[in-house]
Amino acid sequence: MSADDQSAPREPSVDEHSVVLHDRGAAIEQSDAFENPGLPPHRPRQTDLHPHKERRAERQVVGWFLASMLGSVLAIVAYIAVPIELGNMASVRANNLFLGLAIALGLLGIGIGAMHWARQLMSSHEVVEERHLTRGSEPSRARAVEIFQLGDEESGFSRRSLIRNTLIGAIALVPLPAVVLFRDLAPQQDAVEAIAHTMWKPGTRLALDPSGAPIKATDVTMGSAFHVIPEDLTEIGHNEGYLDQKALAAVLLVRLPPEKLHEEPGREGWSYDGIVAYSKICTHVGCPVALYEQQTHHLLCPCHQSTFDVSRHARVVFGPAKRPLPQLPITVDADGYLVAQRDFTEPIGASFFERLHHIDPEHVPLTAAETETRA
Ligand code: FES
Repeated sequence: MSADDQSAPREPSVDEHSVVLHDRGAAIEQSDAFENPGLPPHRPRQTDLHPHKERRAERQVVGWFLASMLGSVLAIVAYIAVPIELGNMASVRANNLFLGLAIALGLLGIGIGAMHWARQLMSSHEVVEERHLTRGSEPSRARAVEIFQLGDEESGFSRRSLIRNTLIGAIALVPLPAVVLFRDLAPQQDAVEAIAHTMWKPGTRLALDPSGAPIKATDVTMGSAFHVIPEDLTEIGHNEGYLDQKALAAVLLVRLPPEKLHEEPGREGWSYDGIVAYSKICTHVGCPVALYEQQTHHLLCPCHQSTFDVSRHARVVFGPAKRPLPQLPITVDADGYLVAQRDFTEPIGASFFERLHHIDPEHVPLTAAETETRA
């Protein structure tokens, strides 16, 4: 021991400290916080004591699973038998009511049946599970298998084949309404076919949106932009697809000095005295192109700023769009009104793979290098 150790005061040990406290009457008795109360004595249920009550509980469980199966089937029947009619709110309410009730029965039947099975028929013996490492030792894993087998034996999952099979049937049927409902979200007709053609046909007059007043070539002043619809669109009611047809056929009409138009071979006859018509639906993702800058002859889509040059067949000069706006070939009729020569020669709107299958044989593609690379 060094000289320093000998001279330093020694700290009392814990035991010595306790003795000192005890002598002063200030010690605290240490004891267990609480005693393990153990499990209450097991109380058998009515179904454990009386076989006829056990059989009745079994029938009730089967009944709930059968009710679930019935609910799932009824959901499909309700969806077909009570359809939603366009514009009829009463049909929407009736459809939702019956569909909701039937699906609720399908789900509740499984839930109540499973609860009833667990509470009345499965083993109710309390067990204590000791905590252990996440991955048990081989003996404990073997014990787990044993417990599973015991659970199967006590729950009667394998033995009570009627309950098990009705449960499997109920679980198998419960997703069916979702399958039918989600399938019906798809368009009823070929989606591409639905947007491949518009109302424009030979001789259809170009009319002002929304009044439907036909437009004479002499009405179109230099530098102005007209929002145009087919004249016969106004004969379609709002519940008969007016907006759908308008979204396909909407056109922008612009007049330029004829010498400013750079028309490609094959498209010279698609304009009339400097008046050109282009689809209003952006070829990026379908916003309405609505802004016209008369000095530059540019049409601007407000959504993502795609810019189209009207003087060059609405080719893309800026932005994410990848192809020009489709051009509507126009001319005038005997009364001087602007009319369509035919429908668009290519599908309007956003580009998509199947679009290429619907390009008309009379379509005249643009030849400029920029357009070729973007098309
Ligand atoms: S929709 Fe027109 S630029 Fe995106």
